[in-house]
Amino acid sequence: METLKIAVIPGDGIGPEVIAEGVKILKRTAELDGRFQFDFTYFPWGCEYYLQHGRMMDEDGIDQLKAFDAIYLGAVGYPGVPDHISLWDLLLRIRKSFDQYVNIRPIQLLNGAPCPLLNGSKEKINMLFIRENSEGEYSGAGDWLFKGKPEEVVLQTGVFSRKGTERIIRYAFDTAKKSGKSVTSISKANALNYSMVFWDEVFEEVSRDYPDVPTYSYLVDAAAMHMINDPQRFEVVVTSNLFGDILTDLGAALAGGMGLAAGANINPEREYPSMFEPVHGSAPDIAGKGMANPLAAVWSASQMVDFFGYEDTGKTLLDAIETLLEENRVLTPDLGGTASTSEVGDRVSDILQEMI
Ligand code: NAI
Ligand code: MG
Repeated sequence: METLKIAVIPGDGIGPEVIAEGVKILKRTAELDGRFQFDFTYFPWGCEYYLQHGRMMDEDGIDQLKAFDAIYLGAVGYPGVPDHISLWDLLLRIRKSFDQYVNIRPIQLLNGAPCPLLNGSKEKINMLFIRENSEGEYSGAGDWLFKGKPEEVVLQTGVFSRKGTERIIRYAFDTAKKSGKSVTSISKANALNYSMVFWDEVFEEVSRDYPDVPTYSYLVDAAAMHMINDPQRFEVVVTSNLFGDILTDLGAALAGGMGLAAGANINPEREYPSMFEPVHGSAPDIAGKGMANPLAAVWSASQMVDFFGYEDTGKTLLDAIETLLEENRVLTPDLGGTASTSEVGDRVSDILQEMI
């Protein structure tokens, strides 16, 4: 039997609450599947750790994480620690150090999930966003000149390398080819006259290697409109770091809300561990009340199971989430229910038992 070593970073706010359910369900999944087992190691990193130690993670934290097969993370950030510190010193450090240059975010409306569109359905809302996760607008490059003076100037530079742009676009094409889907590129070449003209050129170049994959290309503003008016035109979508960040929150709203939005940060070469995490943050407004929806964390866990090559079981886990939504009985308040975080986790676990 394969043993999968998982580093668990529950983090802040509702992070530990939803991760507890995710771990519960991963354990149950492994027991029921029988081909693999998990070995979980917990790391107490996050904002509380920062307030005690003056840093978000151990100094050699990245080295400690290297030995794991994957990282399972809740959320980081809490009032009292500036968001740019909590984000850069933990999450972004892990993403960058481990070259997790692919951010996969499924925007898929499951049966039973609420949708703000009049005619939203599972058939119409089924996109896979592949967001560039290592450079672009979030490269951190820039300068702050003449601080506080009347001539003050700030520069926030987008960095688009050939290697970085090509590998994310190629990843999207490979994904689409495997599943017989189209690829849509989202950019903004009319206004961003260097970076996005370059992006479009690379998209065009790479597409020639995949003559059987249909392609579309939209400006980001038009894409935002089409996602509402005609979501079914999107299948596999590839876009830059900033555009992907914004559009996947829009997508989350289409597909049931933040409580159902899952994400994976992938190092495709598997040279380093990949990281699986719900898209949502630490939700200080509901933290500690046992009312956070754990389904985004559970969905991320199913992405982890897929990543390890047990895609049949990953799919079963997603089906279990869908069954729970269709039952419309044991749901957290964000989905109109009255159940607690752990009651939802227990119900998913029971459904799994019935399914596997
Ligand atoms: P948030 O995602 O934490 O919360 C936004 C809204 O969605 C809140 O009303 C919250 O109650 C609700 N919500 C989020 N997840 C939910 C869940 N599982 N179940 C039910 N309701 C849920 O975003 P916000 O408030 O902007 O950020 C709070 C903190 O989290 C900040 O410190 C921010 O920096 C951090 N953050 C961390 C992220 C991460 O770790 N990847 C991502 C986004 C924010
Ligand atoms: Mg975001």
